[in-house]
Amino acid sequence: MHDSIFIPASAPVHRRRLSRLETAFIARRNVLEIIPSLAYRQPIVSGDILVRWHMLADPAGMKRVMLDNLANYPKSEIMRRMLRPAIGESLFNADGADWKWQRQAVAPVFTHRNVVALAPAMSATAERAAARLAQSGGRAELVKEMLTATFDVICDVALSGREHFDSETFAKAITQYFQTAGRASLLDFLGFPEWFPRPGELLAGSSVRTMHSMVAAAIDARRKEGAGNADDLLDHMLAAQDPETGQRMSAEDLIYNMQFFIVAGHETTALALAWSLYLLANSPEHQDRARAQVRQQLDGRTATAEDLPAMPFIQQVLEESMRLYPPVGLLARTVLKEDELCGRQMRPNDILFLPIWALHRHELLWDRPELFDPGRFDPKTGPRRDKYQYLPFGAGPRVCVGANFAMMQAGIILSTLVQRFRFAPSQPAPHPVMTMTVQPEPGVFLQIQPLG
Ligand code: HEM
Repeated sequence: MHDSIFIPASAPVHRRRLSRLETAFIARRNVLEIIPSLAYRQPIVSGDILVRWHMLADPAGMKRVMLDNLANYPKSEIMRRMLRPAIGESLFNADGADWKWQRQAVAPVFTHRNVVALAPAMSATAERAAARLAQSGGRAELVKEMLTATFDVICDVALSGREHFDSETFAKAITQYFQTAGRASLLDFLGFPEWFPRPGELLAGSSVRTMHSMVAAAIDARRKEGAGNADDLLDHMLAAQDPETGQRMSAEDLIYNMQFFIVAGHETTALALAWSLYLLANSPEHQDRARAQVRQQLDGRTATAEDLPAMPFIQQVLEESMRLYPPVGLLARTVLKEDELCGRQMRPNDILFLPIWALHRHELLWDRPELFDPGRFDPKTGPRRDKYQYLPFGAGPRVCVGANFAMMQAGIILSTLVQRFRFAPSQPAPHPVMTMTVQPEPGVFLQIQPLG
């Protein structure tokens, strides 16, 4: 078989209409399975069992929701509710003025100049990840490996170190959270009132306490040392002030925001890396091409930020991997006022799903959408595409604030590993499952051969 026709795994698609109860059960197991087959062929699909809902997978519609009429589409209560125990009304969950000042407070940390300054920490992490893989005995599970790598870096950015974090305990708490509050609640789908406690929220209590107490210890230590010297995310948050009210972040706001950054800042990037390695392991031709380009540039060294522009194929592999396996596979919004999307009437309180997963595999938008082909993202030879048909980081004012950071970190780690090792598939093959993020289940197991 010619490897450029490697067809990676899809999520199961239901061709018939699902009942509300079925949808609720399936969403808890795998959100990707609630996306109907029509959503891969039509710009918009709607349903109206008890609540009117729509699934939008159309670039012009996405632009309207994420940019032109953003205020009409706040984040949906289903998603906010899943996140609230851990991150409260912090940046990711907030809307309007409450969102705006928090965004302004953290944006400086992620300017290009500041992200480049963090690159040495990323290179050191890549080096350590390579050393661990060299000791792995020829086979490893890559999600775990990549989580360890990206966790190191986010601790540097957020807190200038990890004295207060036991990464194993923190990682276990994150997993427990994802398995409890991080699953869509049946009660939300069944329309239970908001005040009614969700079992997931109650079960998440101990994992949230574990994570929050580590974050709180780090914040306390900084307050004692005196803020302002580290120029990291925590310093920026301690200094942040709402320009209109003069308000500063409360102790709770700080914990919630730091908690979000630490989880979102490493989990998503680790997934992008693990899926990329899985795809390359199954496409020896693309893997060889990536390695040849990397070797020419690095000649055995660990990658740095300055090397990335000379290795465009690495960037293309990451982009194509996030097309097929977007770490954030589905977003949800609520409709505030009447509007029209793709000729369909939106009414107040309708739920609007933005299935990034289906947008990235849409038959009207992509040629042979199921195919792994990094060449699509070659700016010179790849096909033209609408900016809003590829949205791994979202778009508009609420676009991911850490996108540059994630791409730099992923580029440095992926190029360093591809140079040092040959990756080949190993059983079991992963299957995409989304609760909060798109995870490979039961993991990405690869054979790893060190190269001279
Ligand atoms: C491959 C890695 C990543 C992916 C795929 C990703 C994806 C996304 C997406 C899709 C959104 C928009 C959500 C929406 O519109 O509802 C988002 C928002 C956000 N992301 Fe990321 N993210 C990644 C890495 C990071 C990193 C490394 C950080 C921070 C260190 C970060 C911090 C944030 C924050 C703070 C927001 C909320 C922005 C706002 O609402 O103003 N993300 N991310």
